[in-house]
Amino acid sequence: MQTLKFAVLPGDGIGPEVMKVAIDALKAATGPAGIALEYEEADVGGIAIDNHGAALPEATVALCEKADAILFGSVGGPKWENLPPAEQPERAALLPIRKHFSLFANLRPGLLYKELTDASPLKTERIPDGIDIVCVRELTGGIYFGPKETQTLEDGDVQASDTMVYKRSEIERILDVAIASAKARSGKICSVDKANVLTTSVLWRKTATEYIADKAPELELSHMYVDNAAMQMARDPNQFDVLVTENMFGDILSDEIGIVCGSLGMLSSASLGTQNNQHGHPFGLYEPSGGTAPDIAGQGIANPCAQILSSALMLRYSFGLNDVSEKIEAAVKKAVMDDIRTGDIAFGKPAVSTSEMGEAIKERL
Ligand code: IPM
Ligand code: MG
Repeated sequence: MQTLKFAVLPGDGIGPEVMKVAIDALKAATGPAGIALEYEEADVGGIAIDNHGAALPEATVALCEKADAILFGSVGGPKWENLPPAEQPERAALLPIRKHFSLFANLRPGLLYKELTDASPLKTERIPDGIDIVCVRELTGGIYFGPKETQTLEDGDVQASDTMVYKRSEIERILDVAIASAKARSGKICSVDKANVLTTSVLWRKTATEYIADKAPELELSHMYVDNAAMQMARDPNQFDVLVTENMFGDILSDEIGIVCGSLGMLSSASLGTQNNQHGHPFGLYEPSGGTAPDIAGQGIANPCAQILSSALMLRYSFGLNDVSEKIEAAVKKAVMDDIRTGDIAFGKPAVSTSEMGEAIKERL
């Protein structure tokens, strides 16, 4: 029997609620296929600060190191917002875990079902067939991880700096991920930069042009400045298929993709590393894009779909189980089509609870 070994880090806010439902759905999807789940849970984020005095305890890292993938909830919340910035869950847990496991490639699918276009703030005539794009975001470089400094100048003024740094090799490896994604989709890549201002972007654009011409000349590559890309995303998101961009631009654009696709509660993500696991697939971390949603945490009303869809991505990328992954995605879609909806995607329909949404998806598996 095949066994999937992964670490489960539910984190804070709605994390534990949606994680519980996602694990249930995973069991329901894998069991009949004769696949066993071997997972262990550990604290991360605010709850880890409370229980162990550190947002990313060593024991949590050790558990992840033994695993073939990480299923991640979300971290942070008002309770920890007054800590010094560097000790807050986002900066003290999420960024270090990405760096520790070299999770350089963040895939954020922007998917809006045709039947759910009402959920988007865009007019339906702009997205008659829904939305289907993917943002490939570089995740372990750029301004997030370059040298930072705050200093008091001689005249008493205070100056702070963050430095954006990229190596050609870092750009090439994220391009590889975008190339693979584009080959599996429509063959189009849009590389987003700010080459009219930033030196890193000049290198980014040159590398994208040369590398894709060399490795995948059959793909259609375009370049766009990030400000224009943000505007185009709100105007006509389907002009894009695969977007590839650096860390901070990808952070910003992926939130925009989230909202044009309706609800952050539907958006999954995969962060893939440089290392392969024992199955010969990339080690990865899989998390919903929506965050901890502290306003609704603990009420049992959060949308579990993003967490469930993230677990489907885990099956696909870290375990090579495309069939089961597709089965989960289809069950989520079917439940939503059958008007089983949590509050964020209800639109006048009666809203179901987190667990009811989970049950409905399980029934459709
Ligand atoms: C994301 C988040 C994180 C990021 C924060 C929480 C550090 O916004 O995953 O998009 O900026 O990468
Ligand atoms: Mg973000």
